[in-house]
Amino acid sequence: MNDKSKVPTHVSIIMDGNGRWARQRGQERVYGHSHGVESVRACVEAAAENGVRYLSLFAFSEENWGRPEAEVNTLMALMFKSIAGEMEALKKQGVRFRVLGNLDRIDKDLLASIREAEAMTAPPVGKEPLLDLIIFLSYSGKWDILQAAKSLAKKYSTDPEGLDNAGLDEFGDLLVTAGVPDPDLIIRTSGEQRISNYLLWQAAYSELLFVDTLWPDFGKEEFRSALEEYAKRNRRYGKVK
Ligand code: IPE
Ligand code: IPE
Ligand code: MG
Repeated sequence: MNDKSKVPTHVSIIMDGNGRWARQRGQERVYGHSHGVESVRACVEAAAENGVRYLSLFAFSEENWGRPEAEVNTLMALMFKSIAGEMEALKKQGVRFRVLGNLDRIDKDLLASIREAEAMTAPPVGKEPLLDLIIFLSYSGKWDILQAAKSLAKKYSTDPEGLDNAGLDEFGDLLVTAGVPDPDLIIRTSGEQRISNYLLWQAAYSELLFVDTLWPDFGKEEFRSALEEYAKRNRRYGKVK
């Protein structure tokens, strides 16, 4: 990737297909989830190597709470284990780790470890991380928009004129992604061609890429191919170019 202007600033991935990957091997779905952690590692490295500044990953949706309890517990345990196991390495690599979503629903020990990892990987004041790794956990796009709308209503509860004048940037700053540029590229693995209540507001002008690869098979090579595909896109934003 030589032309820097063609490198997306923010790549986001809907990591899908772990269950099918496991089933193809005659294993339980959770086998696929644990292998998916290796793909996360590979994509973090590939993102940093290729000059991507933000990598965000959809790890668990609000709707995923409706899965069998055993699977939900395994996914949360995997998150806990990954945080404990990977943070030191992320810090060394200059990666800032963050978790965004409806975290009221997260177990308090896991939440404490998330906060600790966020503090540990936060760069010193005035210093930019090499990469922001954002994990969307217990997240849904509609929830995010609703919580932002409620915050806006509260902010202007005694100032209807202020509310009338509120604009897109002000609203965007109330979403959990405040300060994070909108994704330039959203990749979904596993062949499904839908957004599944992910970044609805933020995806307004994202380039979408649907690949058949199941998440545990998505590695550095696939990440690089996605960047090459992105470089060919012509982003028009409704204008004539
Ligand atoms: C993605 O893989 C992981 C999560 C949604 C938590 P799936 O578990 O959805 O795997 P498939 O789509 O059933 O194969
Ligand atoms: C989307 O995958 C959510 C995540 C990858 C975390 P799902 O497997 O939950 O999506 P659907 O149900 O196929 O739309
Ligand atoms: Mg799925």
